[in-house]
Formats: sequence, structure tokens, C-alpha cells
Amino acid sequence: MSEVLRSEAEQYEQIPTRVYPDADSACDELAQEVAGLIRAKADAGKGLVLGLATGSTPVGLYRRLIRMHGEEGLSFAHVTTFNLDEYYGLDRSHPESYWRFMQEQLFEHIDIPPENIHLPDGTVDRQDVHAHCRDYEEKIASAGGLDFQILGIGHTGHIGFNEPGSSVDGRTRLVTLDILTRRDAARDFLGEANVPRHAITMGVGTILEARKIVLMAYGEAKASVVVDAVEGETTGRIPASFLQRHTDTRFLVDEAAASELTRIKHPWRVGSVEWTPDLRRKSVIWLSGEMEKPVLKLVDEDYAEHQLGDLITEWGPAYNLNIRIFNEIQHTITGWPGGKPNADDSHRPERAEPARKHVLVLSPEPSDVESAMGGTLHRLVDQGHEVTLAFLTSGNLAVPDPLVHLATDLVLEMGGEDGGGASAELARTVRGQIESKGPFDVDTPETRTAKGLIRRGESRAAAQTCGLQLTQIRFLDLPFDEKGRYRQFQLEAVDAAQLTELLREIRPHQIYATGSVADPNSVAAVSFRALLQAIGTVCREDWWKGCYVWLYRAGNRAWPLHEIDMAVPLSPAEMANKVEAIYQHQSQRSQTPASGTAGAESWQQAEHLNRSTAVAYDGLGLAEYEAIETFRRWNRT
Ligand code: F6R
Repeated sequence: MSEVLRSEAEQYEQIPTRVYPDADSACDELAQEVAGLIRAKADAGKGLVLGLATGSTPVGLYRRLIRMHGEEGLSFAHVTTFNLDEYYGLDRSHPESYWRFMQEQLFEHIDIPPENIHLPDGTVDRQDVHAHCRDYEEKIASAGGLDFQILGIGHTGHIGFNEPGSSVDGRTRLVTLDILTRRDAARDFLGEANVPRHAITMGVGTILEARKIVLMAYGEAKASVVVDAVEGETTGRIPASFLQRHTDTRFLVDEAAASELTRIKHPWRVGSVEWTPDLRRKSVIWLSGEMEKPVLKLVDEDYAEHQLGDLITEWGPAYNLNIRIFNEIQHTITGWPGGKPNADDSHRPERAEPARKHVLVLSPEPSDVESAMGGTLHRLVDQGHEVTLAFLTSGNLAVPDPLVHLATDLVLEMGGEDGGGASAELARTVRGQIESKGPFDVDTPETRTAKGLIRRGESRAAAQTCGLQLTQIRFLDLPFDEKGRYRQFQLEAVDAAQLTELLREIRPHQIYATGSVADPNSVAAVSFRALLQAIGTVCREDWWKGCYVWLYRAGNRAWPLHEIDMAVPLSPAEMANKVEAIYQHQSQRSQTPASGTAGAESWQQAEHLNRSTAVAYDGLGLAEYEAIETFRRWNRT
């Protein structure tokens, strides 16, 4: 464990951890630090030895280093790099090889001499792997050891590809990838079946020999593994927890990835706190869950025994506080997500006026919206609001090839194989391209167009199931997604410009959006940043003052109970209709039979989530509903 003296709030943390508002600010600071080290070494006539990682996490850092090279003359001429890992069995030219990733994301854009770049070689023969790994270790040693190691962290708690079960003194070697890790990579490889089963990775022991280590983690999906590594015991089950044994390791995390740390999740357990309304609500809901008692049955002793005595001194007695919080939660529940016309709205999440609202619903990827808020969407339509549903990206990166076969065959059969016409021509071209495509080849523009059309068809069917007319649907196909690959998206002004135009046209009273706490390189998070830029442009226009932004959560997550500002109950029939809507996204169904909940289909996950929220509300002592969809208001005061 590092010798740094930790503050009272950080008393549970065994690794110094800095929380940043977002990944950008963390990357800004880290890029400055790396540049400073490179320059300091250069001033001393030496070169820096850097340990590097791939994946989405370090992309922001690499972009900044490239910019500093171009604009500030930062030279990498004396930098030597060693990457953590490489998939075994992949050729360097493979689109998903870490070699290629590093070339595209960093090396091609800086002045590092090629001979200074080192990655394990995923193509060495099986019988030569051990010698290759030993050689890799020797090269690190003869470079003088790693001065600075950059790490990300996997959902399994892996660093490099040291999966659960790794030992603290492991060296560079061939490893088998965890099933969760392979699932995480499935999108990049266009299907789990294509993800390699093995990799060569530096060992935990190799990593721990670096003089300085920084691990970055962004997005809420990393929160639980971050807290395990930082606050848990050191264990091979969470290989990143071994970093507790290193004396100069830091974690840099954004707020979403920090959300499970004790000082953030249960701040009252690490010292005295200011009892803001949010914190009061959070602590009472937590206590109710902890005691498995409805809010109104909590008593003073329950608070006292759970380090919440201060809260009761300031805001008690328990019954008064309970009633207050119970009412707050009660007021989040509404069957009128667009506001209830002619009703007193002083305790409702939405305003009654105007009765007929302009509602803009944004779906970053085509199936996000139905999964997260299909029931609410239907209600908004039924309750007479002017709803526009905009699909922000085409989603064409996620369509399996066999579906394209099906679609092109259909077009050709309908027109006759020899039929002319532009659609038959396109279908023939695409079919030819799919047939001659190698296993990991990137799709041609024509094939991407065809795949986008498949998703459009599914999206229309899903939206119609939620009660929308075709005229209420827009497809924006934002360019960042069309030009990009997963994990490597880059926003350009044109993305936000398209959203600005849409906002100005619709002048919404309500926007439904997602992506604020997602992995910053995901489609949802990049789309959300484009929305924020667009809002930045229109926020001084008069109509904007009347707009509420409601955040939903995509990808099988709900808001934590204390963060919910609007809870929309669904009847059994509404739940069934929502499932039917999600089901329309046929290209997103798993291609192999599901195994266990982790592999559950998206409609099953959505159903489970919405029912669990209803059960949780019931547990707090509120009415028992069939299912509930949840929203948080953005920038609420
Ligand atoms: C990559 C590596 C991995 C990743 C980890 C997180 O070289 O060693 O440990 O750092 O899987 O991946 P992302 O950043 O894609 O979430």
C-alpha cells in the first residue's frame, strides 16, 4: 500500500484515487504529467520508458499527446514503449490487433522511432511463446525498466489481460481470456465467436515493477470493480487490487466510475457531512434497503446504529424525516410523463402547461429508446403530445452479415434476378461484397448503407409498436458514427450542428436523452456530448427556458433509487407491449441461444429491470406496481 497519508474521507481507500468531473479533465492532467516526464528525462539526456495500454480508456490521453506533439513540439524521439498485451493468433494487420490499434491511435502521429516500439507478438508459434515472453521481459529490463505504466481496468478487474485467478508475481505469458472480457470485445470483433480465446500479457509482477503506475477508469460500468480494487482486500479475484502493494500507484476516475467508493456512496460513514436534500434522500433510502424496512417504519435507533445519528439530530425525529422522504419519493411517481393537464403540478415531476408538449426523444443507437423507455414513449403519444423520435446513429456497425444476405435476396427476388433498377443494382453489389468479405474485413460504404437500412426498418416497426406514426420518426445518421469504429469515435462540429438544427425546428418542451454517465467512448456518451454542444448553442434562445431534459439509462441499467426524479409505472399490458417493441430489433437478438442472465436477450433484461424497480419501490413502502421506468432530470436546481 502506498505511504501517502489519506484524508478522513478516503480512509477506506488503499490506493490514492482522484475523482474528476469527467474523463476529459483527467486526460488533460495526465497528458500534462506524461509530457512533463518526457521533457524532464530529455533535459537530463535520457529517454522515458513508457508502459502503454489499449482499449477505449487511454484513447483520450493519446489524442492529447498527439496534439501536444503537433502543436507544442513534444518529441517522442527518445521515448521507448512497451505495451501490456496482444491478442494471440491475430496478425498485426488485423483491424482489432493491438499493434494496429497503437499505430492508428498514437504511433503513426508522433515521432517515435519504430525500433523503440514494443508489443508482444500474437503470431509466434505456440512452442516459441515462452521464449518470446522471456525475451519481452528482458527487453524491458535492458531498457532500464518501466518508468511509467498506464493502465485501464476490465470489468473482471483485470489489468493487462491478467484475469481473475492471476497471481501477484506473474510474468509475461500466454493467458486464456475470461468469458466476460470476450463478451466486452464482442462488438469490436463483430460477434463473440470471433474474439480470440488467448492473449499474451505482461504479468502482474511485471507491472508492479514499474516505478510509477496510473490506472484510469471512466464510466459507471467500471464503478463496482474500481471500489473492489481500491477498497477491497488484495486478491487474485480482482487482479487490479494487487496495485495496493505498489508504493506509487494512483487511480484517475471520473464521477461515474467513482460512484461506488465509500466516500461518495456512503459519505456519512467517513466523517461529518452537510445534509443536503439529496443526501438526506439517499441515506434514508439506503437505510430502508439495509434494514429491509419500509421508510415509514424506520425508527431513531435504526439511524443511530447506522452512523446516521447526526442526520436525526439535525432533521429528526425519525418519523418526521421518514414522512418527508416518503413524500418526495411518492411525488416521483407519475402516469403523466408529459405533465397532467389541468392538475396541480406543484408536486409533480413535469409541468401541467402546455398541455400538449413538443417532445423530442433521442435514441443514440436504434434500440436504446424502446429498451429504456418504451412504455413512457407510448404514454407520451397516447396522451396527445407532439412526439418526435430521433435515431441519432444508424447502428449499421451492429448488423450481422447473414441478415444482409436475407435482405438482398429479398430485394432481388422481388425484382427478379435480372431486374434492373437502382435497388436491385445496390443489392447485387452488396451481396457480392458480403460474399467476398474476409472474416474481419471492414464493411464497404454500400454494405454499411444496406445494414443501416435494415436497422431503419426495425426501428420503424419498434416505434410503431409504441404508437408512433412514421412521420414522427427521424434518422440522423450522425457522421461520427458513420466514419468511426467502436471505441474510436471522434465528434466533429457537424454532429452537434445536426442536433442544433433539430432542436431549433422542434423547440421541445421536453427532451429525453441518455449517455451522461456512460463509458465516454460509447455511442451513447459521444451522442450526449453532441447534444450538450447543441444545447450550448441554443441555450440563450427564448424557447429553451421552457425545456426540461429527462435522462434515461440505456443498456440494462436503471437510476439508483435516490437519483430518480420521475418514475413512470407500467401496467402488465404496457410491459408486454414494450417487450414487443424491443423484439422488433431483430438484428440485435443474440445469434446463439442465450445462456444465463448475462446472455439474456434485451427484452428479457428490460423486463427484469423494470420489474425490479417496481419491487424496490414497493420495498420502500410505496404502492406495488407491475413495472417502472425511471428518469432523472438533467441540471435540476
Ligand atoms: C488493454 C488492456 C486492458 C484494458 C481493459 C479496459 O491493453 O490491457 O486491461 O485496459 O480491458 O478496457 P477499456 O479501456 O476498453 O474499457
